[in-house]
Amino acid sequence: TWTTTNVVEESVAAIREQVGTKRAICGLSGGVDSAVAAALVQRAIGDQLTCVYVDHGLMRKGESEQVEKDFVAATGVQLKVVEAEERFLTALAGVSDPEEKRKIIGREFIRVFEQAQAELVAEAGAAGEDVEFLVQGTLYPDVVESGGGTGTANIKSHHNVGGLPDDIEFKLVEPLRRLFKDEVRMVGQELGLPEEIVHRQPFPGPGLGIRIVGEVTKERLDLLREADAIAREELTAAGLDRDIWQCPVVLLADVRSVGVQGDGRTYGHPIVLRPVSSEDAMTADWSRLPYDVLSRISTRITNEVDQVNRVVLDITSKPPGTIEWE
Ligand code: XMP
Repeated sequence: TWTTTNVVEESVAAIREQVGTKRAICGLSGGVDSAVAAALVQRAIGDQLTCVYVDHGLMRKGESEQVEKDFVAATGVQLKVVEAEERFLTALAGVSDPEEKRKIIGREFIRVFEQAQAELVAEAGAAGEDVEFLVQGTLYPDVVESGGGTGTANIKSHHNVGGLPDDIEFKLVEPLRRLFKDEVRMVGQELGLPEEIVHRQPFPGPGLGIRIVGEVTKERLDLLREADAIAREELTAAGLDRDIWQCPVVLLADVRSVGVQGDGRTYGHPIVLRPVSSEDAMTADWSRLPYDVLSRISTRITNEVDQVNRVVLDITSKPPGTIEWE
């Protein structure tokens, strides 16, 4: 029978059997999945695990600090932080195609993990030579939507499934591969992770890189980070965090429209709000947010974010839309 206690016990046993006395690294993204996967593996193999947080420059405002602080405080896990903004932005330069972006991000993640592995080996001496495993928080829906790891995406290549390079040297440990998000949250709770981690809204590994329609640049990321921070702040202030599944904020970087501000003409970019409600992200409905909250978000974004002169609301369910725009 399915109980979280059984799932935890079985996973712990399976992880111990798979990893043995070797070492593993786990990429943390700030999301629930990687946090729960890491906690589960830590329960199984203790300090044979090192977590790696890749700051790829595609994170939201305040996210890096949160991972470094909250997760380490909650679990006491060994954490290695890798600054990789330049590397990711260089790899993404000139690229607008969503699948291409996803594959580049997936590939760069692996390259950074390989580098982290090499550094751990150097630091730990002989004992570090055994870093063979990479832990990923892949969920069942990620596998399904990426085409089951067959190399052909059904819908889109999740960075940790279809977006992986072919020449990957790690053996993968994916303890959540058969679970849905609500089950992952229950497992997280069972493992004693704090509420703010267990109930964190989903955030995709490729981060804001797949929320800029068009080429990803530092300047555009900074704009989007500001707009996203405003939307999140207002949603939290309105007490709506638990009512919505997540609310992607998207920059239409290749679209411009005419506006007016003060007595001058503007020619700026639209920001899209994509609040959704969902059970498992496989299907979703657009959230009926209160008009006054939408209004505050719109007023603040157009006032406070340079080059953004319009805010639009995405009222598409999934299907036919996906939750993210890319
Ligand atoms: P879509 O856009 O496919 O998103 O409706 C479904 C859920 O998955 C998240 N998402 C990802 N998560 N890596 C992740 O870790 C990815 O590459 C990825 N792409 C989408 C998305 O935020 C939503 O919760």
